[in-house]
Amino acid sequence: MRHLTDIPDLTAEEIDELISVACDIIERPDRYSQVCLRKKIATLFYEPSTRTRLSFETAMLDLGGSVIGFSSADNSSVAKGESVADTIKTVSCFADIIAIRHPKEGAAYVAAANSSVPVINAGDGGHSHPTQTLTDLLTIKREMGRLGDLTIGCCGDLKFGRTVHSLISAMSRYSGVRFVLISPEELTIPDYVRCDILDKNHIPYKETRDLETSIPDLDILYMTRVQRERFFNEADYVRLKDTYVLTPEKLAGASDNMRVLHPLPRVNEISVSIDSDPRAAYFRQVRNGKFIRMALIMMLLGLTPGF
Ligand code: CP
Repeated sequence: MRHLTDIPDLTAEEIDELISVACDIIERPDRYSQVCLRKKIATLFYEPSTRTRLSFETAMLDLGGSVIGFSSADNSSVAKGESVADTIKTVSCFADIIAIRHPKEGAAYVAAANSSVPVINAGDGGHSHPTQTLTDLLTIKREMGRLGDLTIGCCGDLKFGRTVHSLISAMSRYSGVRFVLISPEELTIPDYVRCDILDKNHIPYKETRDLETSIPDLDILYMTRVQRERFFNEADYVRLKDTYVLTPEKLAGASDNMRVLHPLPRVNEISVSIDSDPRAAYFRQVRNGKFIRMALIMMLLGLTPGF
């Protein structure tokens, strides 16, 4: 039995295979419409979500399966004090696969350790969000035609931004990848990402506070939200939340081939006037999320189209 708790659970070859299957699903969706007949996914969301939960649920429905779960812990026996371990042992009795989002780092590991069915980490606190990263990789592949030889700018909250941690982990496996890490001093990447991923793998990177002068060098600009829910102090959040706002004026310095990605939701960090720019790929990125999650569900359940 396989789980996906973090990106290193997948080999580079498996990620390439997932991307390839997702591309085939996009081309030939009918081929996959009954792969998960009579299978159920449980979506257990202890933390708010729009894209991740709905894309997991649509993914399973489009594979011919069905969906159970909760979108808020308040609607479950978690509100009575039930532990993650007991909840997972219970839900394993009903579902074939589980996607869990939880505000605490490491919750997905606890879930996997207590599950009799595959568990997918749909985001654990400020730690990681591996299916967002698979979505990002599919998007980069479709937009740029490659996953290597790219300069990737990550901008915003790099300290608590779990999508950035997972993206750096995944992209570090491809050759010719460089990172420009753009953040305020207080929100730089955690040491474990700097030491255990970037330094250990000799990945070139630079850290800067300045978005505008970095933009001309980038192939990908990965914007992130400063996350109110991760701050202990409201005053710090208010001071930092609008540090970076991508406007048409700033985007004017980018190459025509650069793409802007964002895991969403956005607050102020990308001006809505950029949405119609062909370089704005973030809503195409949302769409890709369903296809890569379809491929992942099939892989973890050991299912193929069969014809
Ligand atoms: N990208 C992402 O995780 O979005 P949601 O919080 O809406 O699921």
